[in-house]
Amino acid sequence: MIIATSFGQIRPWHAGDATALVRYANNRNIWRNMRDGFPHPYTWEAARAFLTAVAAQSPTTFFAIATANEAIGGIGITIHSDVHRLTAELGYWLGEPFWGRGYITESIAAFTSYAFATFGLVRISAEPYATNQASARALEKAGYSYEGRLRCNVLKEGLILDQLLYAAIKPENLKR
Ligand SMILES: CC(C)(COP(=O)(O)OP(=O)(O)OC[C@H]1O[C@@H](n2cnc3c(N)ncnc32)[C@H](O)[C@@H]1OP(=O)(O)O)[C@@H](O)C(=O)NCCC(=O)NCCS
Repeated sequence: MIIATSFGQIRPWHAGDATALVRYANNRNIWRNMRDGFPHPYTWEAARAFLTAVAAQSPTTFFAIATANEAIGGIGITIHSDVHRLTAELGYWLGEPFWGRGYITESIAAFTSYAFATFGLVRISAEPYATNQASARALEKAGYSYEGRLRCNVLKEGLILDQLLYAAIKPENLKR
């Protein structure tokens, strides 16, 4: 899968992405907005473990956001199970040197369309921490709707935080 973007592409991760992954993911300003499963410091070993895990995924649901030269971020979904199996949670991050250029807004919109077309999903949600206004704004600009506030839903860096629930519904399911 390759999705062309104005700045490059969304594409599968490659084993050769480890150096770029460490360069951009090893950043506390990224980690503090992610789940604790996103390592910090983001070591070479962590990058290799992630790339090995993604290479074994079937279907592949985690992809690199890349320029023509290198991976600069990541985007992917975790597909839920049981009665929630037509739904997924979206996650993403971008290297800090590239913030504020609209890359993530474009990536969220393009990847959401791809995910609806590919995985048979009807709903994709995202749950930025309430402190993460850049992520909330990017979701809104990419067509996600605000559905509510999940109060005291996160413990991050020793702080209890609210989360903001955003979701996109596959267009034909909006007509139900
Ligand atoms: C969240 C993240 C991907 C956003 O990247 P970005 O490059 O700033 O995103 P975009 O440029 O596409 O859009 C950001 C929007 O938020 C706005 N914004 C940025 N900081 C803001 C703030 N503190 N308060 C309000 N709006 C803010 C920008 O102005 C822009 O909106 P605009 O186009 O209307 O001006 C990036 O900050 C990141 O990787 N953060 C760490 C990881 C993370 O948070 N992942 C998501 C977890 S839910």
